Amino acid sequence: MGMVVEHIREDHEHITKSLGILQKIFMKSERSAIINKIDLSECIRFNAIFTGLCHKEKEETILFKKLAKKGNGIIRSEIDSLSAEHKLCRTYIKNLQDLFPEDPYELISPRFITCVVGYINQMESHIEKENKNLFPIIEHYLTDTEQERVCEQFNEYEEYVMEACASKYIKSNIDYLIRKYS
Ligand SMILES: [Fe+2]
Ligand SMILES: [Fe+2]
Repeated sequence: MGMVVEHIREDHEHITKSLGILQKIFMKSERSAIINKIDLSECIRFNAIFTGLCHKEKEETILFKKLAKKGNGIIRSEIDSLSAEHKLCRTYIKNLQDLFPEDPYELISPRFITCVVGYINQMESHIEKENKNLFPIIEHYLTDTEQERVCEQFNEYEEYVMEACASKYIKSNIDYLIRKYS
């Protein structure tokens, strides 16, 4: 497995963990009807900052741009389809942020729950699609040197976003929550 695939695969694992926590927050609360809003809010924050601002931007502005330069039609159509899905995921995240109740005593709305379910399904199928279709493209079209450069840019960008959003511990928080909910 090349460096770029390994980097993206690790990101996908973290995102998948956060989706699992989201599911469990609602499953655990089913009987008590009390949702842990602090944990819920941390999962939404993770998906807004890590998934939306960091991971998807790394793919689009660094990786897809590099792949597009290869001028291959198959790559182009795959990138277009994945970018369209990124747009959809961004809409879901924006809705989740807008629908999140600010008042701690306010109940979670059915619209919010529908949006959470839609987001989880969309993200799971997007990750599956990238693992299946994008990974072989990366391995086939990017040389080791190109992959090394892409990874350097990934790391620089991630550091910049985490610093700008004061989110240095965002991944460790998800690791903590996965232990709490497993
Ligand atoms: Fe993606
Ligand atoms: Fe991805």
